[in-house]
Amino acid sequence: MGEYDALILAAKQARENAHAPFSDFRVGAAVRAKSGRIYTGCNIENASYGLTCCAERVAIFKALSEGERGFEAIAVVTDTDALTPPCGACRQIVWEFCGDVPVILANLKGKVERESAAKLLPRPFDSAFL
Ligand code: THU
Repeated sequence: MGEYDALILAAKQARENAHAPFSDFRVGAAVRAKSGRIYTGCNIENASYGLTCCAERVAIFKALSEGERGFEAIAVVTDTDALTPPCGACRQIVWEFCGDVPVILANLKGKVERESAAKLLPRPFDSAFL
């Protein structure tokens, strides 16, 4: 898993910026673009709960808005023993913009698991159906 160390570290650092006063569940994410650059995100909650944006989407949208297209991997970090997989909405966004990339799940204690976007989102809806 050494090839993902930098991505995991970036996600851990981003997690420090989480704005999660309602759930107290702090999440960090980092996505590596094909350019080699890493973009990070944290979850950002709102008193109108439904407006909350997950760490994964913040990271991907930051990268896209900077002009990046094409991604190699995404990491998600939480401080939980059971590693945190992306929510359903984020799985759709990962599929749309990253395709079948490795999804690296990690915690602060050094536990790491590798999933794939396709396994997390079987039979995805995408532009192939439009
Ligand atoms: N959250 C994420 O940022 N990413 C995930 O993969 C799971 C959930 C956030 C949303 C909300 O701020 C908090 O975690 C609890 O759901």
